[in-house]
Amino acid sequence: MKVLVIGSGGREHALSWKIAQSKSLTELFIAPGNAGTAEVGTNVDISVNDFEKLGNFCLEKSIDMVVVGPEDPLVKGIYDYFQNSEELKNIAFIGPEKQAAMLEGSKEYAKEFMQRYAIPTAKFISVTKDNLEEGIKFLDTMTAPYVLKADGLAAGKGVLILDDLEETKNQLKAMLDGKFGEASHKVVIEEHLKGIELSVFVLTDGENYLILPEAKDYKRIGEGDTGLNTGGMGAITPVPFADKEFMTKVEEQIVKPTIHGLKNEELKYKGFIFIGLMNSDGTPKVIEYNVRMGDPESEVVIPKIKSDLLEIFKHVANNTLNKVTLEIEPKTSVTVMLVSGGYPEDYEKGKVVTGTENVTGSIVFHAGTKLENGKVVTNGGRVISVTTLGDSMKEALAVSYKNVELIQFEKKNYRKDIGFDL
Ligand code: AMP
Ligand code: GLY
Repeated sequence: MKVLVIGSGGREHALSWKIAQSKSLTELFIAPGNAGTAEVGTNVDISVNDFEKLGNFCLEKSIDMVVVGPEDPLVKGIYDYFQNSEELKNIAFIGPEKQAAMLEGSKEYAKEFMQRYAIPTAKFISVTKDNLEEGIKFLDTMTAPYVLKADGLAAGKGVLILDDLEETKNQLKAMLDGKFGEASHKVVIEEHLKGIELSVFVLTDGENYLILPEAKDYKRIGEGDTGLNTGGMGAITPVPFADKEFMTKVEEQIVKPTIHGLKNEELKYKGFIFIGLMNSDGTPKVIEYNVRMGDPESEVVIPKIKSDLLEIFKHVANNTLNKVTLEIEPKTSVTVMLVSGGYPEDYEKGKVVTGTENVTGSIVFHAGTKLENGKVVTNGGRVISVTTLGDSMKEALAVSYKNVELIQFEKKNYRKDIGFDL
């Protein structure tokens, strides 16, 4: 099979690394990819939102399957673009249609979906300038902290959690006035959930599903979970508190009704569902849906999958996921993200990366790199993720941290406490 993976982060390197090991693969392309994906396939210089060029490339190379990594092209309707073309519609496609991608693209849509299927989640109200008064009244009935979310995609920045009621009301108005652009012309106000967060990943063909290993991601830039939010500074699977009893609740109360909802609403969904959860004293509640894999969660979850991922994707495409038993490596998988100095605020790119060839016992996933005159240089905030599978979390982390020291680039930064809370 000839496969095109769309995206350029650590998630796409992990997906490509795994697909490259498939017995069914004949050729692998990544658009646009990074210096890491170039080691396992051929990078193609096309942006993730240039549907026309991506489609033409698929025709030119007779691509059999497209796997979409990031949310942006899904929310913009890449699935629909392929389906609406006579020439492209028979290409197997991993990723949901535009309407279903609203589960990530609109917080209001996601919350109303959860409400329709009685999926446990925080109480909420959706506000625009037209019903601002209702929003203010809702806030008056809540206790601090207050949660405000831009309805649309805001590159992970659209959520405010505030302690002061007056400040919250002012921020609500600022959001409706365009603090996050178009994305916050509608705002979801939510009850604040207490507990520990967890990410659950589901692969579905629209009817059947597989639950993949769960993961915990470390979102804050600073040690001890302090400082600004990032895309993720590290991840771990399995998560100790996600025991059988808890995961059974997740499957019965969240996964099954979610899949039922997709079917009931005739949403075309062949792909990953990433469910962000809060474990509130043993009760799982949904914080958000994402319509893709997580990053850096992919860098720990995908190496745990022993089965041939491309074979599984074929079952997704053929609606036969019920015929698959997923083989999972029992080890603990951890990843530590190396980031550019300054990230998640301003940072410089183009720093030469050295030493990855000295790494032993870990997998190096490139997140934000590119090749320049034969050299690997930094090309993003998150640069490289160092993954290790070990018999224990401690052992795996020790190997990742040893290897982290061997990789060099100017102003390299990373968190030294991944797993500190487990
Ligand atoms: P989201 O973009 O919805 O994932 O929100 C970003 C982060 O804000 C989440 O990962 C949580 O840490 C936090 N968060 C979002 N909604 C809530 C909530 N209702 N209660 C507590 N924390 C929340
Ligand atoms: N690591 C969180 C995300 O991928 O959205």
